[in-house]
Amino acid sequence: MGGGHQLDEHITIDVLAGDRDPEAERQELRRLLSDRPRQIPSHYFYDGTGSSLFDRITRLPEYYLTRTEAAILERNAARIVRRSGAHELVELGSGTSTKTRILLDAMAEAGTLQRYLPFDVSEPVVRDAIAALAARYPELGIHAVVGDFFLHLDQIPDRIQPGNRRLVLLIGSTIGNFEAPEATALIRRIAQTMQTGDSFLLGVDLVKDESVLHAAYNDTEGITARFNLNVLDVLNFRFGGDFSTCLFEHRAFYDRARERIEMRLVALRDQRVRLTGLDLELEIEAGEEILTEISCKYRREVVVDLLSAGGFELTDWLTDDDRLFGLALARRS
Ligand code: SAH
Ligand code: TRP
Repeated sequence: MGGGHQLDEHITIDVLAGDRDPEAERQELRRLLSDRPRQIPSHYFYDGTGSSLFDRITRLPEYYLTRTEAAILERNAARIVRRSGAHELVELGSGTSTKTRILLDAMAEAGTLQRYLPFDVSEPVVRDAIAALAARYPELGIHAVVGDFFLHLDQIPDRIQPGNRRLVLLIGSTIGNFEAPEATALIRRIAQTMQTGDSFLLGVDLVKDESVLHAAYNDTEGITARFNLNVLDVLNFRFGGDFSTCLFEHRAFYDRARERIEMRLVALRDQRVRLTGLDLELEIEAGEEILTEISCKYRREVVVDLLSAGGFELTDWLTDDDRLFGLALARRS
């Protein structure tokens, strides 16, 4: 395993994200950008700028998801920790690991906390997150992995002690950013990293009033718009592109039939874009839309089905009083 790096006595970081086959990556991107509709895979959102814009999204007044999920965690942390009996906390798409503290505190309180294993595709955000956690939990063992869900989940380190139980988190409605077949595949892969008796905590945004959903992805400050447009700058930087962000506009709307938010970038006029690193030239027409993200909204039954595809059994369905957000605690059976 390349890239293993011991930062100090307690902290290790494995950087695997660069292990992608560069030619395969370029080919995939060339295909998706040339497809109709054109598409950009969502992991490109999360460079340093994208991750810090996302952090601002989580604190926007309209973006109820993060604070609602945090409140559910606060209310149920002791129960989740007790039910899981876990000594190790694995978090997929950990980002800033902010909400994680609620569970780390509850594990510390229960005297079971041994190790935290964050996994995320964004190296700068992982580095900042573990530095902040190390300051707050000086005794905690941290083993971070910078990798992609679809390439590197099998490289999550083994347990410190073979009998240790794990609690695996996929919160923040990150699962909602994948199409149904990919979401099912991801749940199955996650299950493969786990042992019988381990627990899985899945956070999902719930189907609700359309105006609430619309506002969450169309904030008045325009931070979500900047987050969406930033993906063009990421492609410019990574692949020698000349996308001009002012020639595109953020568009997010709720698709009621599919129960999901769709995020797109709309071309404001006819334009030619070159990406020298991809050997690609695009003729984009005014009004054309590039698909950048989806955010699926869930009902409990759909979550139960998704979990059972991975061999998980729902043990607790935790939600807030307004049923805005759901946390599914499940066990690998
Ligand atoms: N869990 C955090 C962050 C959610 S945003 C929260 O609840 O606020 C989604 C996170 O998943 C980001 O930190 C992003 O960097 C990461 N991510 C997105 N696609 C990924 C992929 N393909 N592999 C690994 N991490 C990914
Ligand atoms: N998974 C969260 C959501 O669907 C966070 C997120 C991912 C997000 N991509 C986004 C939020 C794009 C706003 C815009 O809401």
